[in-house]
Amino acid sequence: MKKNITRIGVLSSGGDSPGMNACIRAVVRTAIYNGLEVCGIMRGFIGMVEDDIINMESRSVANIIQRGGTILKTSRCKEFYEFEGRKKAYENLKKHGINGLVIIGGDGSFRGAQIFSSEFDIPCIGLPGTIDKDIAGTDFTIGFDTAVNTAVEAIDKIRDTAEAHDRLFIIEVMGRDAGYIALHSGIATGAENILIPERKTVIEDIISQLAGNERRHKLVNIIVVAEGGEFGGANEVAKLIKGSLPLLEVRVCILGHIQRGGSPSCMDRMIASRMGYHAIECLVEGRYNVFVGIVNNRMHYTPLNEAVKKKQRISEEWLKIVKILAS
Ligand code: F6P
Repeated sequence: MKKNITRIGVLSSGGDSPGMNACIRAVVRTAIYNGLEVCGIMRGFIGMVEDDIINMESRSVANIIQRGGTILKTSRCKEFYEFEGRKKAYENLKKHGINGLVIIGGDGSFRGAQIFSSEFDIPCIGLPGTIDKDIAGTDFTIGFDTAVNTAVEAIDKIRDTAEAHDRLFIIEVMGRDAGYIALHSGIATGAENILIPERKTVIEDIISQLAGNERRHKLVNIIVVAEGGEFGGANEVAKLIKGSLPLLEVRVCILGHIQRGGSPSCMDRMIASRMGYHAIECLVEGRYNVFVGIVNNRMHYTPLNEAVKKKQRISEEWLKIVKILAS
């Protein structure tokens, strides 16, 4: 049933991602355009539980479209896992007169939003903000494009020094449960091997491939590993390889949180603006408790309760392309 939404709350939650600020800007300004009042909820769901809530106006989001991080700050909130915490959050929202919520975050944040919206009468709209790109129901997530380009830039630089020294480099990129950054950055930099959590890797195959490369005097090799691979991260993979090929010059580089920061790419600013705009359209039109995605360049709305059940699958075609191009 359509409600009379008059005052909304917006928050960012989970790991930050470049483009969250562009998204907050779009949400705030579209809400104001539609005659709604806007509150910023600080530090993710914690701000709801602890009543850390501010009023926002159009000027509050000036000069942020190009900035990484999130002006609203973010967190992973343990209290929100408990009903008591969510009830406290609801009471605080009521106190502020907030009757609609926009949550920018990844699958964990959507899970929180889904439970909250099923327990209390405040419609929630999710916006996919995560560098991991592991959410089914959208071709893009806010931050992935920037993060993967950061990784590509770094790996290109590493290849220069790998080439100069004839070394094997094992590069760890982010993705505890998701291999998208590894897959895309690996393909785009011509990595010889890509290890992702979604696929089993036969380490013996990599070792015999490297031994063969050594015989052919192909000494420069790049292996991109997602941090949540089956053997662990890059250090663990390096140990396994060194155990079998002790003479190989191996170096490890962990790119880490640099992938989460930095000014968002044009692409991330565009999708963040578009999704932020449509989040408010949803609240105004009465399309509640969905997350806003883009599929085949059209807006796509997935109920939050379905969104939390699915992960975006790694494309088989890309996996085949990796094998052929890296040979
Ligand atoms: O936001 C997603 C992500 O960057 C994952 O790729 C990574 O595993 C995790 O967050 C790291 O979280 P934290 O910032 O808490 O170390």
